[in-house]
Amino acid sequence: MTFPKTLLLLAAGSTLLLAQPPAASDAQIERGRYLTVEVGRCQECHSPRLENREFDKERWLKGAVLEYAPIQPIQGWHKTSPDITSTSRLWKRWGDAGMLKFLTTGVNPGGHPADAPMPAYKLKTEDAEAVIAYLKSLQ
Ligand code: HEC
Repeated sequence: MTFPKTLLLLAAGSTLLLAQPPAASDAQIERGRYLTVEVGRCQECHSPRLENREFDKERWLKGAVLEYAPIQPIQGWHKTSPDITSTSRLWKRWGDAGMLKFLTTGVNPGGHPADAPMPAYKLKTEDAEAVIAYLKSLQ
């Protein structure tokens, strides 16, 4: 006996739907924006500024040259920060799972903490997921 083609297609379609990760809700993205922008203040290091000192909205969180250096030398100090939007090379290498690990443990997928002055955030999973949803909402 053969199954009707339409039934098979329907079954295949619903399996595909189930296999996809749940889409981020507006509320989750807004919470992620709040945590990223108002609490973590990632933009202070990851967004370049314009000459008038305002953040360059066109390159929001797309990596920047830091504006300051430590008074005492700090080993491994980085003068630049990477693009942390979801279209970045970093994100392509790490994927969502790598970003989640980094934001919840402070340890990157390579097994190391990031260099100074990147803080080692140890967010709760739901907060890290919200930050990720916000970063993925950016182009
Ligand atoms: C005080 C400045 C500063 C702040 C605030 C900051 N970062 Fe960073 N971040 C950096 C610098 C500098 C690097 C580069 C360090 C490195 O490559 O090891 C970096 C690296 C990273 C990396 C890559 C780490 C790696 O191991 O390659 C990610 C992801 C990241 N930051 C995400 C964030 C997020 C998300 C926030 C806000 C919740 C944030 N950063 C806030 C300065 C900062």
